[in-house]
Amino acid sequence: MPNIAHLYFRTAIVFLLLGVAMGLHMAMSGQHNVIGPHAHTNLLGWVTMALFGGYYALNPAKAESRFAGIQYMTYATGVALMTVSLYLLYRGYASLEPVVAVSSLIVLAGIVMFAVIVFGREPVANPVRGEALRH
Ligand code: HEM
Ligand code: HEM
Repeated sequence: MPNIAHLYFRTAIVFLLLGVAMGLHMAMSGQHNVIGPHAHTNLLGWVTMALFGGYYALNPAKAESRFAGIQYMTYATGVALMTVSLYLLYRGYASLEPVVAVSSLIVLAGIVMFAVIVFGREPVANPVRGEALRH
């Protein structure tokens, strides 16, 4: 598994590119019709993922746990699904509303997992086996 802080920043920058592309398209076309997807791609994608990545960089022992990998997969999948479905919803595909709802709940699950990691104990490194152990 690659370093999760790097993974978060690499994922976050992709969402910033998408979010800014939506913003520029709105600005240039003069049609401000995808504000919701633009705001959330930037804020859930770029800003929040960068904050998660920063936390994992500051807490490398926590970043190595299997649960941190599951947290990343859950949150990133939720935001990716939400970005695409919310964008299409705003572009008139009303039938996608349930997908937006489910993806929002996946995002929420990823945030709850992150809260568990933040409030969880710091694992200690085992110098003999080179693995992270819990207290
Ligand atoms: C080149 C970059 C960007 C462009 C051209 C751009 C453009 C826009 C436009 C045209 C709107 C609609 C404004 C309106 O009609 O009220 C908007 C709204 C918004 N943008 Fe951006 N944006 C950019 C980057 C960002 C970034 C990086 C973020 C967040 C990190 C962001 C967050 C928001 C938010 C939260 C709103 C909604 C504001 C509200 O509710 O009134 N934007 N942006
Ligand atoms: C699963 C998580 C989230 C859901 C389901 C959600 C849902 C919503 C909804 C329904 C609106 C009103 C949109 C409208 O009236 O057009 C909204 C607006 C907004 N949300 Fe969120 N939100 C979430 C997370 C966040 C987060 C984490 C941030 C900031 C870091 C954020 C920032 C904003 C902003 C700035 C607006 C106003 C801009 C706009 O009109 O789209 N949201 N959100």
